[in-house]
Amino acid sequence: MLGRINHIAIAVPDLTAAAMPYRNLGAKVSEPQPLPEHGAAVVFVELENTKVELLQPLGENSPISAFLEKNPSGGMHHICYEVADILVARDRAVALGLRVLGDGTPKIGAHGKPVLFLHPKDFSGTLTELEQI
Ligand code: CO
Repeated sequence: MLGRINHIAIAVPDLTAAAMPYRNLGAKVSEPQPLPEHGAAVVFVELENTKVELLQPLGENSPISAFLEKNPSGGMHHICYEVADILVARDRAVALGLRVLGDGTPKIGAHGKPVLFLHPKDFSGTLTELEQI
């Protein structure tokens, strides 16, 4: 059910500072993009086989803010895996006893595709996103 890694997301307190080493190491790095509906501003680091997304909180009630309070200098926020069918993936996760965050209804993620998040306690402390591709 798990396909390729779509992206790895890293919460950061300062997008410009966080993007610098990736740019200096020759990666393709986007300009910061505000995603107000997701409470974050994002820099995309495009690699040959996946993307790294640097996430800075944007606005109040950002889902990134609480993470940065616990990890002030930033840290890995989640890994996103591609799935062929988000509802099939959800039902399989639930049947396995994995905890789906929220009410289990897929939301439209930062790439315009349906996503769900699975509880970090079921993945060795790593928040896990599923994205239908
Ligand atoms: Co994500």
